[in-house]
Amino acid sequence: MPEDPSVADSSAASAPVADARVAYSAPLDGGGLLEGDLAATPLEQLARWYDEVSASGSVVEPNAMVLATVDAGGLPDARTVLLKGLDARGLSFYTHHTSTKGQQLLATPAAAAVLPWHAVQRSVRVRGPVLRLDDDEVADYFASRPYGSRIGAHASRQSAVVDGREPLETAYERAAAHWPDDGRTVPVPGSWGGYRIVPVEVELWVGRASRLHDRLVYLPAAHEAAGLGVDAALALDDPSAWRVVRRQP
Ligand SMILES: Cc1cc2nc3c(=O)[nH]c(=O)nc-3n(C[C@H](O)[C@H](O)[C@H](O)COP(=O)(O)O)c2cc1C
Repeated sequence: MPEDPSVADSSAASAPVADARVAYSAPLDGGGLLEGDLAATPLEQLARWYDEVSASGSVVEPNAMVLATVDAGGLPDARTVLLKGLDARGLSFYTHHTSTKGQQLLATPAAAAVLPWHAVQRSVRVRGPVLRLDDDEVADYFASRPYGSRIGAHASRQSAVVDGREPLETAYERAAAHWPDDGRTVPVPGSWGGYRIVPVEVELWVGRASRLHDRLVYLPAAHEAAGLGVDAALALDDPSAWRVVRRQP
């Protein structure tokens, strides 16, 4: 039994969750993020932050992002995926269309994502409609993946329940026998592809002292453009398309 009964009340973990806290001080941002520090476009700002975070060496997998979707009943769902494309059109990632997230995106083609760069006290949030990537873009990316990842994509029916590891390993061996590692093309599985989040909102968060964090948000310049429909999509590299607001922490 822990000696402090309040700890027993608040945490089942032996490291009390309520006691875990960090004093924020914007280590990569010279004390904070001010309006004047921001790039003219969300794309330039995201690219700058991504480069700085990567160069810091402090964040493992800086392209890992938490992707939130919503199920048919309106219940949110979230999981990590890897950011694999960042350009004026949005943020892209790859997965199985038949997975839980793929089915959720089919029914509700919109998502939110967080790049949680805790180690450098930065975080990025985006939200917006989601589009499927076209076949050529998917094929190009799939061909760039290591052999094992391409075969693994054939072996997994992502999100389906499986009776232990063995059927998975058997499916991998079967796929590897069908497409040996001899330099020939492994086709893109029919169930596999990519999506692009087309942001209608991009928030940059920097942790600061006393929880007075900085939150600067790119929003559509025209108020009526705000919303989650594909029609609201704005080029991330168009400075006239965006305005910046500060939100309270
Ligand atoms: C660091 C990390 C990166 C991941 N990257 C991907 C990815 O790029 N695509 C993907 O489909 N799943 C990825 N996953 C697995 C997903 O988090 C998730 O387990 C899987 O996509 C099934 O999600 P779903 O059942 O909600 O569709 C990653 C997991 C982690 C922890």
